[in-house]
Amino acid sequence: MKKEDLKALLEDMSIEEKIGQLVQIPGFFLEGESITTGPAAEMGFSPEEIYSAGSTLSVFGRDKIKKIQDEFIKHHPHHIPLLFMGDIINGYKSIFPIPLAQGCSFDPDLVMRLASMAAREASVSGLTVNFSPMVDLVRDPRWGRVMESTGEDSYLNSVLAEAIVKGYQGDNIADHEKMAACVKHFAAYGAPVAGRDYTGVELSERTLRDDYLPSYKAAVDTGCELVMTSFNTIDRIPASANTKLMRDILRGEWEFDGVLISDWAAVSELVNHGIAKDDKEAATLAMRAGVDIDMCTPVYIKNLGNLINEGIISETMLDEAVLRVLNLKNKLGLFENPYHFSEDTKEEEVILCSEHRALCREAAEKSMVLLKNKESILPITDPDKKIAFIGPYVSEKHIFGAWSLLGDEKDVISVEEGVKNLKLKNKITFSKGCGRLDERYELYSFRGLESEEKTDEQRALEQAVKEAGDADIVVLMLGEHPGMSGEAGSRGDIRLLRKQRKLFKEIYNVNKNIVTLVFNGRPLDIKGIVNRSKAVIDAWFPGIEGGNAVARMLFGLCSPEGRLSMSFPYCVGQIPVHYDSFSTGRMYDGDKTNRFQSRYLDIPNEPLFEFGYGLSYTEFEYSDLTLSKNEMSKSVENDTITASVTLKNVGDRDGCETVQLYIRDMAGSVVRPLKKLKGFKKVNLKAGEETKVYFEINTQMLKFTDINMNYSAEPGTFRVFVGGSSSTDEYCEFELL
Ligand code: GLC
Repeated sequence: MKKEDLKALLEDMSIEEKIGQLVQIPGFFLEGESITTGPAAEMGFSPEEIYSAGSTLSVFGRDKIKKIQDEFIKHHPHHIPLLFMGDIINGYKSIFPIPLAQGCSFDPDLVMRLASMAAREASVSGLTVNFSPMVDLVRDPRWGRVMESTGEDSYLNSVLAEAIVKGYQGDNIADHEKMAACVKHFAAYGAPVAGRDYTGVELSERTLRDDYLPSYKAAVDTGCELVMTSFNTIDRIPASANTKLMRDILRGEWEFDGVLISDWAAVSELVNHGIAKDDKEAATLAMRAGVDIDMCTPVYIKNLGNLINEGIISETMLDEAVLRVLNLKNKLGLFENPYHFSEDTKEEEVILCSEHRALCREAAEKSMVLLKNKESILPITDPDKKIAFIGPYVSEKHIFGAWSLLGDEKDVISVEEGVKNLKLKNKITFSKGCGRLDERYELYSFRGLESEEKTDEQRALEQAVKEAGDADIVVLMLGEHPGMSGEAGSRGDIRLLRKQRKLFKEIYNVNKNIVTLVFNGRPLDIKGIVNRSKAVIDAWFPGIEGGNAVARMLFGLCSPEGRLSMSFPYCVGQIPVHYDSFSTGRMYDGDKTNRFQSRYLDIPNEPLFEFGYGLSYTEFEYSDLTLSKNEMSKSVENDTITASVTLKNVGDRDGCETVQLYIRDMAGSVVRPLKKLKGFKKVNLKAGEETKVYFEINTQMLKFTDINMNYSAEPGTFRVFVGGSSSTDEYCEFELL
């Protein structure tokens, strides 16, 4: 539809119709026999109000969506089609690794291909908006939603945010296999006080701008069509009422003119936060902040009419919001094709096709992180080795994370199946050893109370110990239950549950050749496991091809290349711990006799594993770090310095190294982090091969929010580090003039 026709449509709409476009009704309203009775009526929606809605969410399946769309278009006075939105976080049916694992791939091309695959499957099934990417920067693994983020670094998150938006949206969201992306949760939802979901966020504006906002801006700059408000407060103002965040920064500084949707019930929750005395005031605050769509509450639909009649909210403000929603529908081509998908493409041809499965396996292999490999116990190449696979994740098929709403265990390859697929000569046994959950651990997920088929724990343990005693190598498959992370999945104790720690101890007593795999949605306190295992791989929640990927990695058909996207704390008491921290007036120099330094009496300052860390089955050596010159001038247009380093594969296997560039600003008008990631490159080298790796450094990379709140680079000394993790200490210096 042409712009002028859209404007004419808007002018022809009644106030009630306009308000309806700002209302998102929950998909469960539409599941029953009759749309206008049941939950909708219980929540007080009249039939007219329901049929005036502009969007819905979590309705899945092409036929169902088509039927609902037809009914809504028929009932709507101007036959305006609905938007069908959903959370396709790590795949639609072809489920791939959780985003925190994708971050470990350090591979924007892979991440874009995954997003494109997810969009292809979701859009062929009728969805037009994806509540993804989630780009919240995360530094606190107590918070369960770290699994949805790509990690603790703003540069990596920004690069991947751009890749994901491009994957979902392509060049034109009207394309049958593309969809609109919705970046979330704006803003800084990943920094909840005490790591507990939904609490407030207490950040200085400078930290907010320099650390937490860049990844949302990267998504917006890439053309992301929607932004979702977060549940938390910023500066003690809930995001959905925060005009500074939404009007000044998002729409003002960043010039975002897309749709701003609240998170689920976040508008009505302004009353719970205590800044709105009732729904009417909540609607006022949210509209003034620029929230276009009220997700799944009747606040807008029940109050905006009166607010406009009373002149509290202007019809101009209403029209601006409605036009943004109509614009989105128009960009999706819904006025011409309300289904968006093409009748020529069938769901069964696209969903879970072999190409998609292969991509899921590639992603699982590239996201897993080898944390330890003593005596090169991995990969297992000796066909005479007897191997005991033990643990609750040996045959488990729910390995696709907490947000895989459409994931189906029947589509998953378990580790046991993956190992059997290799048809190895080794004598191999498989046993569960114990359940994933402790009896005392009551876990409720969106599926209700999580329970496991009763295991005869004592017999399972005895069997496992026996098999371990008979084996040359034990592969222990341990981990969190997927419901222990994700939304409202905060934990105060981030160790494996007692039952699994007990299993580990019993196995360790009979066999010291332990390879441990961890399935997790967050960094865990696994120092006990790491100290007593010869090798440790973090598999995260790898998705439908996880079993094949794990098997291929254990037996050397693929090599680990993941690097941690988030630090593993030494223990929960160390949180928050992240690589880009600051110096202090009293940095600890290792001298314990000098008490008055910044350290703990009982634990180290360093994390168990740092951001960017990961091993491979070979060894890499760095040498000859060099800068093309040792000065760069702000006043010289496009002035750059080239950093180069020689990288050599000194091992006996081919491998892939993620070469990382960090820069430290030695002094500024405000304190500056000890390191900041400014670039990375993945380099594949054959055994013995060497190459030079180059990075270009420019002034833009050196900017930050200075003492006057201006985003600028300040003259002074800078250190350039290049290495295989954030702990690299080889550097060169240059002066910015
Ligand atoms: C949830 C989540 C958000 C999700 C939305 C719709 O509460 O916070 O990430 O997109 O509701 O399901």
